[in-house]
Amino acid sequence: MGFSTPDASIPWGTAFLAPIAERVRREANIPVASAWGIDAPAIANETIEKEQLDLVMVGRAHLKNPHWSYQAALALGKTEPSWVLPAPYAHWLERYRVSEG
Ligand SMILES: Cc1cc2nc3c(=O)[nH]c(=O)nc-3n(C[C@H](O)[C@H](O)[C@H](O)COP(=O)(O)O)c2cc1C
Repeated sequence: MGFSTPDASIPWGTAFLAPIAERVRREANIPVASAWGIDAPAIANETIEKEQLDLVMVGRAHLKNPHWSYQAALALGKTEPSWVLPAPYAHWLERYRVSEG
């Protein structure tokens, strides 16, 4: 994308690198990861389901909301959602889960 060149034209938008990563995945036949603008759980999940990405990296959304991973697991209906966290947190959080808000 040329992020570091002054005259780069970067097509900012939701998951804008996902189609490019998907092309690398398909043509080079290697697993790919990407970030940039994949802020909503549904968008992250979509890039996986559409086989654009093998791994989604979420940066700034975690700065805004340190609970992003857990809340995404809840939003996506993952079984035992707390297990996206380290075991000492997951074990107790799973037992004390009261609401999914
Ligand atoms: C505070 C901060 C520090 C970052 N540090 C690194 C880093 O050390 N190495 C790196 O490859 N990317 C770094 N990034 C870029 C992120 O990995 C990510 O590519 C970028 O923020 C875009 O994804 P996002 O839209 O989910 O934030 C950093 C981003 C932020 C906001």
